[in-house]
Amino acid sequence: MSAIAGRKLVVAVTGGVAAYKAAELVRLLGKAGADVHVVLTDAGSRFVTAVTFQALSGNTVWSDLWDPRMPNNMAHIDLTRGAAAILIAPASADVLAKIVHGMADDLLTTMCLARDCPLLVAPAMNRQMWENPATARNLARLREDGVHVLGPDTGEQACGEVGMGRMLEPEVLVEAVTAFFSDKLLGGRKVVMTAGPTFEAIDPVRGITNTSSGKMGYALAQACARAGAEVVLVSGPTALQAPYGVRRVDVRSALEMRAAVMDNLDDADVFVGVAAVADYRPAQPAEHKIKKSGDGLVLELTPNPDILAEVAARASPPFCVGFAAESRDLDIYAQGKLRAKRLQLVVGNLVQDGLGGDLNTVVLYDAEGRTPLQRASKDEVALGIVARLAARLTQQLR
Ligand code: C5P
Repeated sequence: MSAIAGRKLVVAVTGGVAAYKAAELVRLLGKAGADVHVVLTDAGSRFVTAVTFQALSGNTVWSDLWDPRMPNNMAHIDLTRGAAAILIAPASADVLAKIVHGMADDLLTTMCLARDCPLLVAPAMNRQMWENPATARNLARLREDGVHVLGPDTGEQACGEVGMGRMLEPEVLVEAVTAFFSDKLLGGRKVVMTAGPTFEAIDPVRGITNTSSGKMGYALAQACARAGAEVVLVSGPTALQAPYGVRRVDVRSALEMRAAVMDNLDDADVFVGVAAVADYRPAQPAEHKIKKSGDGLVLELTPNPDILAEVAARASPPFCVGFAAESRDLDIYAQGKLRAKRLQLVVGNLVQDGLGGDLNTVVLYDAEGRTPLQRASKDEVALGIVARLAARLTQQLR
């Protein structure tokens, strides 16, 4: 279940062209199970109407400090009572400046001053406004005051300029809010992971690869980041986007993957090998495209290094987690891998149950035995793995 589910969230929409994205944000937060209440400022309503937000949130939209529909005329108090957070998205330069100074001249600013819940802001403005020292000062003050600043992003802006100041995309904001509410089981830890397939070149246009989608590794990277870890995801070629808060290092072959892992392993508390690393690579990739001929073609393959085993064999290795995808005798092979590679945890699954799809059925193997997790989405399975990993890590350090 998402960390957002069942929470009351007040989403405030201020005047900026990114207000049109706030409609999607409200929809996605609702889909994740939040009870969303929208506050729309006058300037915000120049861009999107209250009707849109009411339809998407299923709740009354509030704009006016003096709204007579609130029986006690205390919208600025009542709206945030019982709320898990206020999220201002988009947050204009103007509203940020007002909040810094404790101004309270409309419903939103009064509500922020009177709140008893966390305040999250997703700034959105032209790059010059963002770079203006006044805005920089305001942001620094807001952070000092405990306000959580999400973004902004850099890129093309509605005004045609390119630079810093774009509001984070709605999906990214939902992820950031989810991370905000997630238990910080891995707070302060550094996790290095591999994910996806590797691609071993035969010639400049052909290679050997496998059907790993990378979904399980990416879901686990996201779960670790939500749990507060610093995550480096060394990824083979996949069609997936790096999860919010995760640093992705792109690689192609097993040799590149190994080099990237070793480069990032300093200070790592945990290493997780999720990648389906090719066991062999062509011994001598051809410099030019191999031409077709009537004869057969024999490729000489040479073994790839076992990245996980190499990390686990270091003098003071991090907590090492491996994956065992098997087509039969899962218990025997997974437990064998735990011992042979000297791992602390192995996540085993039968390939027919998980590879490439969205659901997975896994069994966790560690020194205490085997723990099957319920068949679930890869996101849910990732949460289960993180919980076990965090518990084992704490026990080990005691
Ligand atoms: O031995 P096997 O390939 O079945 O082990 C799978 C585990 O080892 C996975 O965690 C995988 O990411 C890791 N591995 C690796 N380097 C290899 C092969 C596997 O890190 N060359």
